[in-house]
Amino acid sequence: MKGFIFDLDGVITDTAKYHYEAWRNLGEKLGITVDEKFNEQLKGISRMDSLDRILALGNKENEYSLYEKKQLAAEKNAYYLNLLQGLGPDDLLSGVKEFLMAAQERNIPCAIASASKNAPLILEKLDVNDYFEAIVDPASLAKGKPHPEIFIRAAQLIGIEATEAIGFEDAQAGVDGIKACGMFAVGIEVDEPLIGVDISVNSFCDLDIDKLLEIQRNRHTA
Ligand code: G6P
Ligand code: MG
Repeated sequence: MKGFIFDLDGVITDTAKYHYEAWRNLGEKLGITVDEKFNEQLKGISRMDSLDRILALGNKENEYSLYEKKQLAAEKNAYYLNLLQGLGPDDLLSGVKEFLMAAQERNIPCAIASASKNAPLILEKLDVNDYFEAIVDPASLAKGKPHPEIFIRAAQLIGIEATEAIGFEDAQAGVDGIKACGMFAVGIEVDEPLIGVDISVNSFCDLDIDKLLEIQRNRHTA
């Protein structure tokens, strides 16, 4: 048994840049500079946890009530959704569609393990819903990445063990979660190097699905 488990933002499509833009915009209103380096720490992290990290960056963690923080998070999300308006099938990252088709041809189940509550909407816009047997509902989880819970749940949903799956991630928190449950990790590295990945590529174009499966199989039996 085998299965593929994908993060969404920065792996399937380049929405990571829109999250960054939306947080930077909110940060500006709050007088907090969210730069590209700090943004790396927000990748893979839930909306509310990201906001908490930004407020802590500006030493403003005690300035807002929970109600106000929910409003700020909603404001960020509204800005983000606006940036997503034009998103469509052409926004799949290169090689993703071909990889999903190759997985489908080989009857290898695929699942989404993303902290994003917008994942179903984004997959629909990209028109790739049919390729995924399962999307983990992040609201059903006790812990976010780097905890491995989301990857373990994704494996369960497609009926395999975590150790049988190959996980794809662009964020360090995600890679840490994948490795914490003994899963094989493929890093999609665009900006910062990812520590602890089994294989790293710039895009799905650099991946041969059969070779990847063979490498994972050899690693597993070694
Ligand atoms: C992913 C992204 C994060 C984002 C989180 C929540 O993990 O990498 O940048 O904050 O999802 O996304 P949401 O769409 O629910 O705000
Ligand atoms: Mg990501």
